[in-house]
Amino acid sequence: MSCAIEAHDVRYRYPNGVVGLDGVDLSVAHGERIAVLGPNGAGKTTLMLHLNGLLSGSGTLFVAGVRVGEGDARQLRARVGLVFQDPDDQLFMPSVREDVAFGPLNLGLSRAEACERVAEALAAVRMQHVADRAPHQLSLGQRRRVAIATVLAMDPRLLVLDEPSASLDPRSRRELLQTLARLEQTMLVVTHDLLFAAELCERAVILSGGRIVADGRCADILRDEDLLAAHDLELPYGRLEVAAAA
Ligand SMILES: Nc1ncnc2c1ncn2[C@@H]1O[C@H](COP(=O)(O)OP(=O)(O)OP(=O)(O)O)[C@@H](O)[C@H]1O
Ligand SMILES: [Mg+2]
Repeated sequence: MSCAIEAHDVRYRYPNGVVGLDGVDLSVAHGERIAVLGPNGAGKTTLMLHLNGLLSGSGTLFVAGVRVGEGDARQLRARVGLVFQDPDDQLFMPSVREDVAFGPLNLGLSRAEACERVAEALAAVRMQHVADRAPHQLSLGQRRRVAIATVLAMDPRLLVLDEPSASLDPRSRRELLQTLARLEQTMLVVTHDLLFAAELCERAVILSGGRIVADGRCADILRDEDLLAAHDLELPYGRLEVAAAA
């Protein structure tokens, strides 16, 4: 069976000359949940934007069976769901309901099917009660949860989340963790929340300076204090809790 992600020597330079990715090699099997860790400016968001073709650099990249940059872009967008770091990049319709329905309708689902998807996705992030409100009238944490719902509603094969737990209150963070843990999709989770990573992901990679500098069991990576320190990563509560979570 093909891999969910197969990246070989992926490089990307922004138009202003800044290097975003400096030779990324990564293989992800179907069904894996991988944490993407790394300091600010490491290239995590740049990598994520490559996974559905929003950015396209050199090297080879296959995602969900499609060659990025050359294959069917529409199919790629249907198979890969990106939750952006900033929810305001994801929400643009006058109401939450319309925002969450947008993807399913775009995939060609009927109004009734889209309606069902909206209800399920909003329930998954506990946001049914805001369905008729305007996204810009919600708090940041609420907008983040709605942004996640817009992607869940499309039922993608690969789910890529950029900082999903940022600005969530503890209960919402816990519920998001449980929601994501129940999903069967292949998942890439970019996060600075190392304990979130430890609970959700069996495997982790560290991206630093546009390259993958570590790839292994999440628990092993989080126990390696020297490795974490070398890439500006820190656990909030020390090793014991990570061992317990792993
Ligand atoms: N639109 C852009 N134009 C030019 N350079 C950019 C742009 N976006 C990001 N960069 C640069 O590319 C590099 C990688 O940035 P990226 O946003 O991928 O980092 P990141 O790992 O997601 O960081 P963070 O943890 O802060 O979200 C950085 O040096 C950054 O300054
Ligand atoms: Mg980022």
